[in-house]
Amino acid sequence: MARLVLCTVALLAASGLADPIKKVPHKVVDHEFLQHQVDVLNLFYHIHEPIHEPELKEIVNTFDLEKNIEHYTNVTAVKMYAEFVKSDVLVPRGVPFSVLEFSHRFEAEVLYDLLYSAKDFTTFYKTAVYLRNRINEGLFVYVVSVVLLHRPDTQGIVIPPIYEVFPSYFHNAEIINTAQRINTHGKRMIEHYPSTYVHDDNVVIRWNSTTWPYHNNDVAVTYFTHDVNLNAFYYNVHLMYPFWLGNDDSPLVKDRRGELFWFYHKQILSRYYMERLSNGLGEIPELGLDVVQQGYVPGMSYYNGIPFPVRPNHFNLDQPEFVNAITKIIEYEHRIREAIDKGYVLNHLGEHISIQTPEAVDILGRVIEANVDSPNPYYYKDFISVWKTVLGNTVWHKHHYHKGLIPLVVPSVLEHYQTALRDPAFYMIWKRVLGLFTTWQKYLPEYKLEKLALPSVVIKSVEVDKLVTYFEHTYFNVTNDLHMNEHESKAVVDDVSVVVQRPQLNHKVFTVRVNVKSEVEKPVLVKFFLAPKYDSKGYEIPLHVNTENFFLLDQFVYDMPVGECVIKRESTENGFAIKGWTPAYEVYEKAFNALHGKGQFVLDRTHRIDGFPDHLLLPKGRVGGMPFVLLVYISEYQPSKVPYASNFDPNVSLGLGSGARYMTDEPLGFPLNRPLYQWQADHLSNLYIQDVYITHKLVPEVVVPHVEEVHPL
Ligand SMILES: *[C@@H]1O[C@H](CO)[C@@H](O)[C@H](O)[C@H]1NC(C)=O
Ligand SMILES: *[C@@H]1O[C@H](CO)[C@@H](O)[C@H](O)[C@H]1NC(C)=O
Ligand SMILES: *[C@@H]1O[C@H](CO)[C@@H](O)[C@H](O)[C@H]1NC(C)=O
Ligand SMILES: *[C@@H]1O[C@H](CO)[C@@H](O)[C@H](O)[C@H]1NC(C)=O
Repeated sequence: MARLVLCTVALLAASGLADPIKKVPHKVVDHEFLQHQVDVLNLFYHIHEPIHEPELKEIVNTFDLEKNIEHYTNVTAVKMYAEFVKSDVLVPRGVPFSVLEFSHRFEAEVLYDLLYSAKDFTTFYKTAVYLRNRINEGLFVYVVSVVLLHRPDTQGIVIPPIYEVFPSYFHNAEIINTAQRINTHGKRMIEHYPSTYVHDDNVVIRWNSTTWPYHNNDVAVTYFTHDVNLNAFYYNVHLMYPFWLGNDDSPLVKDRRGELFWFYHKQILSRYYMERLSNGLGEIPELGLDVVQQGYVPGMSYYNGIPFPVRPNHFNLDQPEFVNAITKIIEYEHRIREAIDKGYVLNHLGEHISIQTPEAVDILGRVIEANVDSPNPYYYKDFISVWKTVLGNTVWHKHHYHKGLIPLVVPSVLEHYQTALRDPAFYMIWKRVLGLFTTWQKYLPEYKLEKLALPSVVIKSVEVDKLVTYFEHTYFNVTNDLHMNEHESKAVVDDVSVVVQRPQLNHKVFTVRVNVKSEVEKPVLVKFFLAPKYDSKGYEIPLHVNTENFFLLDQFVYDMPVGECVIKRESTENGFAIKGWTPAYEVYEKAFNALHGKGQFVLDRTHRIDGFPDHLLLPKGRVGGMPFVLLVYISEYQPSKVPYASNFDPNVSLGLGSGARYMTDEPLGFPLNRPLYQWQADHLSNLYIQDVYITHKLVPEVVVPHVEEVHPL
């Protein structure tokens, strides 16, 4: 009998697109870091109000950009921004900021150059404090966050979660209004607001008793599309890779940014599709140029009271006001289709750059995003954003200007990263965009069996625990958005603490056991993928068609011993997923206490900014169980050419700031980044497909719209 080794301790690394966690697990930060952490959180505190801290007020009143010009490396940026401030050609405070609006972005880029080029942390910080009360708060938060992620001396500093800085992008206007009222009344008048109750010292607003959650067409999956952490995740990824940042000064191109752009959108789409199927919603609608059936009513308001634009049902794209935009979309998409069919893109000199190799997915991604690292962003333009203005029904064609120069816009949810996933149109646009990538993939040859095989490893079977999902309540602190009264602003504290109770999908912890036999001892890469088994009509989806529906669930490096062994992996070890981000208030308390000698402040990767929300790893499934397929694939481990977090010292950052996130040199999503045929799968000993059932367990206390049982035709 073969030797059975229980090799769970032989884990080389426990992460997904990530570093060997076990090697650099955590770090206790020093005094200087703690001070910087506290300083940074002060910048984000009650962002709509002026700074109340006396020492900071002093900086606001006395600092001068030009007098400090020798403290920045980019003198141009200092002069330009100082001039903007002097002549007040800035996006004003209190209005929506849109990074997709040219002049808003222009200011953001100069501000980035200014803050990034500060020679030391003190200059960076003073500059930020000085501008904090003077410039648009949306622009400020966005740019300061991007700078914090990319400056070498701020790696690892915790940026407060965006849903605590700007709760009104995550909760409907009814909730935000109620919160403002409570803020004034305190706990005194709770009984007058049936949607609220007191718990500990907090006033809790129940999401489910606002009229809002029941007024939407796509209501059955809003627990997914409106998920606060999911939307924050999408925002965070864009903080790491802003489309306007790159080139030589910030070599984000090293991170395979184009490939990543494709991959995480594919991940989100495949995840969304499984959620639709779980609720019997059918295929993601095709987006054409005629009529969009599904409308979207965000029910949210901007801070200045203006509601987010609404798209009615049966939205007709054949309207005179869209002619211009639709023409652009057709033209820009055509340029990309042509490049795919011809096998090359043109750079700005008109030279051909081949996209016929598998690695060219990275070029194609940069071209489609039209980011600054695209070979030619002036020819291959950003049609995705044009789609967003049209489908968002954005009030963009009736511009009002500040100082006759800065457009005041009312962007739709689609045009903010932190709200884009809410609108079903997001997935329709992206289905169309991913279609371009699929067209390109079809020009590549099928994978040869030798490329996919790892003959020394045989997967004998895969066992998966019962997969169970359920709804639970979760709580978000919205206090930071509320107005401060006289006492609060003098003492710089919050007298009332207001939190919002919302439902979220979650799953029970599960374990996957892969029974393998190996002839050689070596590190391997193990991947788990999840896909639906049946489409919305109840037909089984053939593997080569299903390829694009596979969601990469987990990925890790494993030290394979000789002989038979069980690779045991718990869902809690997942390398992509995190339990959530620490509330800003908690980070502040911990850092502040540690700074004053009470306790330690430990950095680890469990709160990293690009973590996918763990509670959404599994789709809801159905009450009676719903079949999915789990695909396990084991390949030879090839270390990444660009080592993990290599833009900065990984010992310092632990990969919490920016920097490459790859543990392996394999293409993202390999081997499902090209159609995989059943006959190929049948010949591979290192690939195993197993049916799994996801069962949804009802929790009567948590009321959330969804579809329990679906009976396919
Ligand atoms: C300096 O800032 C200006 C204005 O934002 C920008 O155009 C320029 O590229 C920056 N230079 C460097 C070296 O970053
Ligand atoms: C909201 O949820 C609570 C339990 O948390 C429940 O008692 C109440 O009936 C629900 N309200 C509505 C309108 O569904
Ligand atoms: C919410 O945040 C505020 C600070 O903005 C804090 O005073 C309050 O204690 C927090 N509430 C909870 C429940 O953590
Ligand atoms: C990071 O830490 C490891 C182990 O402590 C050390 O060997 C390595 O030299 C460090 N890297 C840098 C860049 O300091």
